[in-house]
Amino acid sequence: MALKIQIINGPNLNLLGKREPDIYGHITLEQIQKEVEKHSQKKNISVDFCQSNIEGEIVNKIQEIEDNAQGLIINAAAFTHTSVAILDALNTLNIPKIEIHISNIFAREEFRHKSMISKSVHGIICGFGLNSYILAVDAIENIIKNENR
Ligand code: DQA
Repeated sequence: MALKIQIINGPNLNLLGKREPDIYGHITLEQIQKEVEKHSQKKNISVDFCQSNIEGEIVNKIQEIEDNAQGLIINAAAFTHTSVAILDALNTLNIPKIEIHISNIFAREEFRHKSMISKSVHGIICGFGLNSYILAVDAIENIIKNENR
């Protein structure tokens, strides 16, 4: 069975490309999705890529994953720093989970240094732009391969 990874993007990431390009670059979320799909296909991995500005919708999406995906990549955007609800939802999920950020949150304002959700994930990848997503796909694949060894 081909591996399936759920990728969840939080608020304002739909504005990538025009949103603070000095921080996030000029790439759009649609372009990121295409690049991630291209990379994943080569590995026989399918991805479900989604975005929401609404915290409850992200919680719903996490709850829906259950047996539908074998790994989760989440860029919770601003909710990273605030959301106990997303942390609690992640805690119910027993699959490999990677938190990612386009920017290096530790090189930015102090309020971005704290993540509410890190406690629940295998690891964090941040500061690599589009490559944060690509590296996370590889990380999930690696975790699963090692589990099956
Ligand atoms: C972000 C970093 C967050 O601090 C910010 O609120 C975002 C995007 C990133 O991908 O770099 O919206 O998650």
